Amino acid sequence: MIYLDNSATTKPYPEVTQEIVKCMEDDFGNPSSLHRMGVIAEKRIRSARRSIAMQLGVTDGEIYFTSGGTEADNAALYGAAQALKRRGNRIITSKIEHPAVLETCRKLASSGFEVIYVGTDSKGRADIGEIEQHINDRTILISLMHVNNETGTIQPLEAIGLLAKHGGICFHSDAVQSFGKLSLAPHKSGLDMLSLSAHKIHGPKGVGAMYIRNGCRIDPLIVGGGQENGARSGTENVPGIAGFAKAAEIICSGQNAKMKDMAKVRAYLLRGIKDEIGDIRINSLEADGCSPAILNVSFEGTRGEVLLHMLEQSDIFVSTGSACSSKRKNRSHVLKAMGLSDSQIDSAIRFSFSEFNTIEEMDQTLDRLKTAVKSMRKTLKGL
Ligand SMILES: Cc1ncc(COP(=O)(O)O)c(C=O)c1O
Repeated sequence: MIYLDNSATTKPYPEVTQEIVKCMEDDFGNPSSLHRMGVIAEKRIRSARRSIAMQLGVTDGEIYFTSGGTEADNAALYGAAQALKRRGNRIITSKIEHPAVLETCRKLASSGFEVIYVGTDSKGRADIGEIEQHINDRTILISLMHVNNETGTIQPLEAIGLLAKHGGICFHSDAVQSFGKLSLAPHKSGLDMLSLSAHKIHGPKGVGAMYIRNGCRIDPLIVGGGQENGARSGTENVPGIAGFAKAAEIICSGQNAKMKDMAKVRAYLLRGIKDEIGDIRINSLEADGCSPAILNVSFEGTRGEVLLHMLEQSDIFVSTGSACSSKRKNRSHVLKAMGLSDSQIDSAIRFSFSEFNTIEEMDQTLDRLKTAVKSMRKTLKGL
């Protein structure tokens, strides 16, 4: 099997699975219980919180566990908007955000917030000038993702952080696709809030976290027993949280070397596609400014969905766009915002890499891809 859909999800590290099993078999207490079993479970969460905080260079009390990236995005945006609504009602975001952000913004807009969606250039870089132009004294929140999940384009967080700081505006970033892969320093980037997810870094599904800067207040989205310092009620997913921390520790150790290797694998595939397959559009930035984990290419005169299934027959797994939108049948809002034509969007494939992919795998992928593209172009031309 050649798995090139790591932006949809990753295979858990064996150490993560072991950690989760240990937690479920032995340390199954409720962290809120006062007896020894509760204390052990609570210790597990405390140590996981410390571990995630350390990877980000923030304090333990600034990390709040959630049920994943989607909840972190919802909770951060909703929570900040509610907490800050007396100061203003304008929220600035981009057209290429993940649906977890866009749908939350849509709901906020229907309850009286004014949401501005800034555009991007042809490679998906958000227009900083447009963001600056839309900042006024009623702007309370800016949300801009760090790495786009479809193209890998990296947004300039530090520049936006400066704008936000200058305007006294809360700054959130969805870092689901960058945590563990790119350097991420909330203090340096002027971030007030971040969203993270475990299953994109070889951790379990259904667990994530928010970083919320000390002093930044949000109204909780989920209320109840007051866990997570009141920011997110509900009995904590102890095995998931322990697995998340283990995954973060492993992926962050030797991160630079792993990412350099991943960039080589990506560059090799890109070179091969450019040299051996004509009529393509590279939808990702080729090196600088792009995550080494993602490469998005349109193979004109083909259908991405059919290509995906042709590759699947050789046990090669890719994606047509983001996992969450691919089943919805609507065209990628990200590629649309970048100005691609319908046929370019419909023929796009996303290859997304992990530290386990090899050059040999890219040779096999190229080989299959060449044959599949050629045969589909021939068939579609004949129709
Ligand atoms: C950029 C981005 N944000 C948020 C999410 C949602 O994360 P989760 O699957 O943990 O809810 C994803 C997952 O595809 C993503 O890629």
